[in-house]
This record gives sequence, structure tokens and C-alpha cells, in this order.
Amino acid sequence: MTNLNPLQFLDRVSTPANMLIEPAPNDEQLAQIFRAAMNAPDHMHLKPYRFITIRGEARQALSAVFVNAVQIRKPDVDSDYLKKQGQKPLRSPLIVVLVASLHDEPKVPEIEQMLCAGAVANNMMLASNALGFGSIWLTGDNSYDDNVCRPLGLTSSERIIGFIYLGTPKVKKSNRETPDLSDKVSDWVGPL
Ligand SMILES: Cc1cc2nc3c(=O)[nH]c(=O)nc-3n(C[C@H](O)[C@H](O)[C@H](O)COP(=O)(O)O)c2cc1C
Repeated sequence: MTNLNPLQFLDRVSTPANMLIEPAPNDEQLAQIFRAAMNAPDHMHLKPYRFITIRGEARQALSAVFVNAVQIRKPDVDSDYLKKQGQKPLRSPLIVVLVASLHDEPKVPEIEQMLCAGAVANNMMLASNALGFGSIWLTGDNSYDDNVCRPLGLTSSERIIGFIYLGTPKVKKSNRETPDLSDKVSDWVGPL
């Protein structure tokens, strides 16, 4: 039996966005990450997802989009809150917006297409980890806000699955306990 490489699978851990620094994956590494991501299980091979990369100065534009969306969503918030929202995209060198592009396919309900896109996200993070990069999957109200989705170019059949922040972890990640298998795994042998 082939052993899993623990560095690639068992030690993935999220890195807070403000602890991700340059270098981010370069174009070649990013291509590997996207290829690994797209190897996710996909019912009928609909490929119900796409990736939008945001880096460099474009993060400032995303910052402005976030601030505008919050101002519309919560007109009464103070300037400190708005400033914090605007700083979010500037925390890491690279953001990949993972988008679910939903197909009208009766054999593959929306939930399956969303699950596929979720598996794509996790594959992305595992592949990034395998290449020595850190990442974190973030959503929040901005992910579900038309005033964010529209400027990012999403259509009415698309949803934001998450903002995957990427970069090099500033500090080495520590190992952690995984759940006790006996709490999470049971052997079903017949009707209960
Ligand atoms: C769909 C999804 C959305 C998430 N959104 C957020 C978020 O908006 N803010 C946050 O702090 N963590 C969010 N998380 C959790 C983090 O990505 C991360 O998994 C969590 O901090 C636990 O760290 P770990 O991945 O090392 O176990 C989200 C996770 C998932 C799967």
C-alpha cells in the first residue's frame, strides 16, 4: 500500500490572512494548483466552477468594492469598521475568488455542483500546502452580496464559494490534533 505523504495531506492548516506574505505562488505554481483543484470529483464533468485571481494593485480595487458593498448593506457603520473592511483584501499577496458556475442540468442538482466547487476549493488548499504555501478560505457577507458579485463579473447563475487567500506563511504552522476517529467513524452492519 502506498502511504499518503503526511506533509501534503495530514498537516494542512489554515493560515490567518494577515500572516500570509510574499511570495505568493508564481504563475507556474498557480497553474499546478488549479490543475490539482480541477481534479475534484465532478458529476457529469460539468466543471461548475471558475477561478478569478486578484493580486497587486487589483486588491485595492477589491477593497473599494468591499467598502462600497458594506456602505450599501450597513449605511450606519462607522469609519473604523469601513476601514477594516477595506483592509481585508490587502492582507495577503494573492486572492483567488472561487466561483460556482451552476449549470441547468436536472441530473446534477445545485447542491452537487456546489459540493464539487467546495471540493475544488479544498484541493486548491491541499495543493498549495504541498507546494509550501499557506491559505485560508474566507466568505462572510461580502460573498453573498450582489454589490460584490456584480463588479467581479459573476452572472446570475454564479455564486462565490469563497475568497481563498494565498501566500507564504509568516510563521511555521504548528501541528494539531485531528478528531478522535471513534467519534467520527462507525461501522454500519445493518438497519438500526
Ligand atoms: C465555506 C467556508 C467559509 C469560511 N468562511 C470563513 C470566514 O468568513 N471567516 C473565518 O474566520 N473563517 C472562515 N472559514 C473557516 C476557515 O477557513 C478555517 O477553516 C478555520 O479557521 C479553521 O482552520 P483550519 O482550516 O486550519 O481547520 C470558512 C470555512 C469554510 C469551509
